[in-house]
Amino acid sequence: MCGIVGYIGTRDAFPIIIKGLKRLEYRGYDSAGIALLNGDMTVFKKAGKVSELEKIVIPGETIANIGIGHTRWATHGEPNDRNAHPHLSQSGNLAIIHNGIIENYSSIKEELSKRGYVFHSDTDTEVLVNLIEEVQKTEKTTLDNAVRIALNEVVGAYAIVVLNKNNPDQLVAARKGSPMVIGIGEDDFFIASDASPIIEYTKNVVYLDDQEYAVINRNGTYSIRTLGNVEKSHAIQKLEFSLEAIEKGGFEHFMLKEIYEQPKAIEDALRGRMNASQGWIKLGGLNEFINRIDNAGRFIVTACGTSWHSGLIGEYLIEDLARVPVEVEYASEFRYRNPIINEKDVVIAISQSGETADTLAAIELAKERQALVYGICNVIGSSIARTSHAGSYTHAGPEIGVASTKAFSTQISLLTLIALQLAQVKGTIATSKLREILYELENIPRKIEETLLLDAQIKEIAAIYKDATNFLYLGRGYNFPVALEGALKLKEISYIHAEGYPAAEMKHGPIALIDENMPVVFLATNQSAYEKIVSNVQEVKARKGKIIAVIHKSDTQIRELADHIIEVPETEEILSPLITIVPLQLLAYHIAILRGCNVDQPRNLAKSVTVE
Ligand code: G6P
Repeated sequence: MCGIVGYIGTRDAFPIIIKGLKRLEYRGYDSAGIALLNGDMTVFKKAGKVSELEKIVIPGETIANIGIGHTRWATHGEPNDRNAHPHLSQSGNLAIIHNGIIENYSSIKEELSKRGYVFHSDTDTEVLVNLIEEVQKTEKTTLDNAVRIALNEVVGAYAIVVLNKNNPDQLVAARKGSPMVIGIGEDDFFIASDASPIIEYTKNVVYLDDQEYAVINRNGTYSIRTLGNVEKSHAIQKLEFSLEAIEKGGFEHFMLKEIYEQPKAIEDALRGRMNASQGWIKLGGLNEFINRIDNAGRFIVTACGTSWHSGLIGEYLIEDLARVPVEVEYASEFRYRNPIINEKDVVIAISQSGETADTLAAIELAKERQALVYGICNVIGSSIARTSHAGSYTHAGPEIGVASTKAFSTQISLLTLIALQLAQVKGTIATSKLREILYELENIPRKIEETLLLDAQIKEIAAIYKDATNFLYLGRGYNFPVALEGALKLKEISYIHAEGYPAAEMKHGPIALIDENMPVVFLATNQSAYEKIVSNVQEVKARKGKIIAVIHKSDTQIRELADHIIEVPETEEILSPLITIVPLQLLAYHIAILRGCNVDQPRNLAKSVTVE
C-alpha cells in the first residue's frame, strides 16, 4: 500500500530512488513522484506507473544527492497527477511522502484552512505536511520536533519521510502501522517501505518500530526517538536475501518465477524442521510454547486473502490430525464483531507480508484478551512477526507478484508441520503414519516439479477459455479451499469473474449458472468422496458445462466425463492442496497473459494492504 523511498548521501539520488520505486511498485502503481533537493526543491509527479514518471522527468534537473520518492495506491483522492506524492507544504519548503491514512485529516484541514492554508490536492497527506509546517512556525522549532508534535495530533496509520528545503543535510522519517526500513551504507542512508530498494547498496538495516521517528543526517549519524520523545537504539540487522531473489531471473513475470520457485520454497520452509526417517518435527516457535499450545481449547486462524485460504487448509489439517477445534476468521470481520476469545485460545495469524492492517488489528485484539498469538509470516522482521508471541517464518523468499503463489504453498507446508507436531504431542497419530506423511512431504517438491511440466498443456486449455466471462471452481474436503484460491487467482489477474465452491454446494445455487458457456474446474484428486465428486461432475455435464478436471493418473471415471484433464501426481490426501493449486496458478497466469493483462501488477490491487 504505497511504496516510499528516501536517499541521503554522496551518490546520485535520482537513479537510486527510481530503481527503488520500481522494486516497490507491487505496493501500488496508481501514480509516482519524486522530490530532489539541490539548492531548490525539484518535484516531478505523474499518474500511472513509475515508467510514466520517468517520461516527464527533465534530464539535467535530477542532479541531487538527497531526495524522496513515492509510488501510490490511492486512498484519499483519485489517482491523478495532482494527488500524486510528494506533496509540498504551503511555503514550498517541505516535501512529504506518505504511506497510510490520516483518519482525522478533515478536522485538521478545516483548522488549517481557517489559518489561511490552501490545498491543491484531495489527499490527507497534503494536510499532514501543512500541519507539520504550521507546528514548525507556531512553535518555532526544528523539523523533527515539529514532525513529532504533529504526529501526536494525528489519528491513523503512516510511514512518512519529510524533506526540508532549508536543511539539505537531513531527512526525517516516522512510522505507525506502516513498515519502514533504514539502510545504513558506508557514507549514506536509504529509507524504504521494505528492503528491496536497499539490498543492492547495503545489507545493514534498522527497522523502525511503530510510533517512532528517525532523524537521518548527511554526516553519517542518525537518531531514533519515540513519538513520546524517548531516545531509542535499535540493533543493526543483516538482510538475508540476495539481489537475485528480487529479480526476474529469466522469467517473463515475477508471478511465473514464483510459481516455479515453489519446490525450492517448500524445501526451504521444511529445512531443519523435520526428519522423515527419524520421525521428528521441530518448529522452534511451537516448542517454545508447547505446553500452552498443547492445552489450547481451540485454535483461531485469522488472515486475509490468499493467507485466509491457507488458514482454511490449516483448519482441516489441525482438526483432522490433532483433533483440536479450529475456527478460521477473516481478520477484518474478527476484529469488529466482538468475538469470544480467552487465554486458553491460540490465535494463528497468517500473513505473507506481515504488514496487513486488518490482521495486525486482529492480533492486537487477541493479545488484549490474553490469547497466545502464533504468527506465520514470510517477511522477516515484519510487524506481525514482531508482535506475535511466537511463530515461524515461511522462508519462501521475497514474493513480488501481487497474486500470491509460493507464500500460499509454504504457509500450507508450515501448517502441516504444526498439525503433525501437535498430533504427535497429543498422541493422535500413529508413529508409522506420521513417518509416512513426513516422507511424502519430503517428496512434494519433486511432485510439484512434475506438475510444472504440464505448463504447455495448461496454456492450451487457457487459450480455449481465455474469453470466458465466468468460471466456477469446485472441490471437496482439502480441495475446497484450493477451489477458492484457484478462483481468486483468476479474478485477481485476468478480471474474469470466478467463484470457488464446495462441489456438493453447487446444487444449492451455482448450478443455475451452468450452461455451455460456463467452464467448471473440478479438483477431483480426492481418494475420499471420489464417487460423490463423480456425481457432481455428472451434474455439470448434464447441463452442458465445460469440464476441466484436475485428476490423478489412476482416475478412471472423471477422465471419461471431462472436456479436459490435467493429470497430477498422487499424494497423501492431506497434502494434495500443495499439488492441486499449481495447475490453477498456471491456468490463471496463462489466461491473464492471453488477455493482455499485467499479471504482476493487476489493476486496483496491492500486495501489502496496510490500510483497513
Ligand atoms: C492482498 C494481496 C493478497 C494477499 C492479501 C493478504 O490482498 O493482494 O495476495 O493474500 O493481501 O496479505 P498478507 O500479506 O497478509 O498475506
